[in-house]
Amino acid sequence: MRAFVIPHDGANIVELAEVPKPQIDDDEVLVRVRAVGVGIHDSYFFPPDVRYPFPIGIEAAGIVEEIGGRVTGYHPGDRIAYVSSMQPKGGTWAEFVAVSTDSLIIPIPAGMDFATAAAVPVAGNTVLRAFHALTAVPSGGSLFIAGGSGALGTFGIQLARQRHWRVGASASEVNHDYLRSLGAEMVVDYHDPDWTSQVRDWMPGGVDAAMAVQPGTAAETARVVKDCGQLIPISGDSAATERGVRLETMPYQVDVSDGTMQLMSDIEAGNVHVEIERVYPFEDALTALAKVQTRRARGKSVLRIA
Ligand SMILES: NC(=O)c1ccc[n+]([C@@H]2O[C@H](COP(=O)([O-])OP(=O)(O)OC[C@H]3O[C@@H](n4cnc5c(N)ncnc54)[C@H](OP(=O)(O)O)[C@@H]3O)[C@@H](O)[C@H]2O)c1
Repeated sequence: MRAFVIPHDGANIVELAEVPKPQIDDDEVLVRVRAVGVGIHDSYFFPPDVRYPFPIGIEAAGIVEEIGGRVTGYHPGDRIAYVSSMQPKGGTWAEFVAVSTDSLIIPIPAGMDFATAAAVPVAGNTVLRAFHALTAVPSGGSLFIAGGSGALGTFGIQLARQRHWRVGASASEVNHDYLRSLGAEMVVDYHDPDWTSQVRDWMPGGVDAAMAVQPGTAAETARVVKDCGQLIPISGDSAATERGVRLETMPYQVDVSDGTMQLMSDIEAGNVHVEIERVYPFEDALTALAKVQTRRARGKSVLRIA
């Protein structure tokens, strides 16, 4: 099969290669991949027992082709989207993937195409986990999202509005109308050195909680949080905080499958918008990765496998 792989240990490249189709174990399903969600982490997120050549990637949508001997609940022909990370057999930038049934697997609603489905699992489950940690935001409370126009921010704004939270968000000015269209009540440009005071003008005393998406943004974002409020740095920043602001860690152990399924239904029903930066042909995967690495893509970049 064709796959984008790290060819050998220490290689600092990703390249298209012909590799063997993975063999499934009893608790795995073999998925024929139809679309892949692209994330900046795809180029550096590997299991400890990685085998080379290693297909990269952690999320996709496709059709179940085969099921292992102990698998129940899935059948050949099922359309699924999934997050499959840290798999020694390889990731999702491939024509076929072995997916453990322990993974986050979501049935794709009948009316949803594969490209849309592939854009949901990582961003959706990450926002749901982050919100699970934000216990300090009551209905009618306030959330600030530093990084509102990317894949996480796009879902973050909309899911916060579903919880009846008031939302402020940052992005470049060109994306401000986009943030408002998603439900943001106030927007700031993070290039403006005064943006934290603008958020404070909107919510004197500070917001109940904030989500800092990009690495290196947590320390500045902490300034807009109220005393003893919460801050969740999605990219693992370990910023020192003051005034009792609590720095939360991502609750990876929490099961968000029901919430992710509900998100899929909401998308299919037209209640939540998925922004796709572009659907790239599989062969152009490295162009898609380069775009995501600029950290300036609006919404999600997706690969389509014909
Ligand atoms: N912990 C987890 O489980 C987890 C899961 C998924 C992702 N992540 C991490 O989350 C990050 C990617 O999130 P994403 O997929 O939403 O990103 P993304 O789609 O790549 O985000 C791009 C957006 O970020 C905005 N941006 C860039 N620099 C910014 C800054 N300094 N302040 C505010 N906004 C800024 C850009 O806005 P403009 O173009 O409008 O300027 C752009 O629209 C990565 O670091 C990834 O590793 C973590």
